[in-house]
Amino acid sequence: MTEPIQNGIPTVTLRPGVDIPLLGLGTWQAKEGEAYEAVRAALDLGYRHIDTARAYGNEEEVGRAVADSGIDRSEIVVTTKLPPDDADDAPRIIDESLAKLGFDHVDLWLVHWPPNKEARPDVWENVIAAQQAGKARAIGVSNYSPAQIDELIAATGVAPAINQIPWSPADYDADLVAAHRERGVVLEGYSPFKRTDLDDPVLAEVAAAHGVTPTQVVLRWHLDTGVVVIPKSVNRDRIAANLDVTGFTLTEDEIARVSGLGA
Ligand SMILES: NC(=O)c1ccc[n+]([C@@H]2O[C@H](COP(=O)([O-])OP(=O)(O)OC[C@H]3O[C@@H](n4cnc5c(N)ncnc54)[C@H](OP(=O)(O)O)[C@@H]3O)[C@@H](O)[C@H]2O)c1
Repeated sequence: MTEPIQNGIPTVTLRPGVDIPLLGLGTWQAKEGEAYEAVRAALDLGYRHIDTARAYGNEEEVGRAVADSGIDRSEIVVTTKLPPDDADDAPRIIDESLAKLGFDHVDLWLVHWPPNKEARPDVWENVIAAQQAGKARAIGVSNYSPAQIDELIAATGVAPAINQIPWSPADYDADLVAAHRERGVVLEGYSPFKRTDLDDPVLAEVAAAHGVTPTQVVLRWHLDTGVVVIPKSVNRDRIAANLDVTGFTLTEDEIARVSGLGA
């Protein structure tokens, strides 16, 4: 169910109708000053999706970079996250995140981790309330299991639009993909490179076949399997290289071989 392309990158529609580019910029561990420059570079190069979190300490830099980019705010999808330690304070935390970002809404607000490893439907109720108040266009979770997602749905009737989890070829798990699809929850992966052996011969062969790098194969594999991916870089050349994955697609056989790294 991918949709038309934005700057060459396919998008997927999150409930209740938020189009999110399948490829965005991650900002975890971007040091002070780096996040601003990285987001400016990314937006300049054509990214329209930025992933931050209260815990990353860079919401202010991200918001300032979005404002200074000159690009209409409505064209950019920005995600931030509710830390589990602040889960009981969700109404205050969303207001603080918005103040730091300088926005009147975020496009996607996620519960960063299950608080104390529990689903906590009461926390999810507050996230739903923030969406109803217009403070988040779409809402979701991160690091939740399908069983924990079921708990949220059973208690509130509202499914998270997305679940952001560790994902890479080595993590590929057809059952987990199916579990998300069955629940209508979009799968978003994080740490695509850190979790990958970039010297793997399969990635090298597929990369050589297309005249690209193994990192580009990893990103294209996400796009070709409909998984959202948010590679982090603070280096303009690497930010550009990570977006430069629109000139090729993987064959069915190549997708199967790359997914096979998770078998
Ligand atoms: N929800 C969660 O719990 C959670 C957890 C972890 C991450 N995340 C999100 O996911 C994003 C991505 O994950 P991540 O930051 O853990 O890891 P990642 O994106 O897999 O890897 C980032 C590392 O790869 C390097 N890199 C980037 N592009 C490269 C390229 N083309 N070639 C070689 N090296 C490259 C970066 O260095 P340079 O910056 O120097 O280029 C950095 O050291 C995070 O930034 C964050 O937004 C979410």
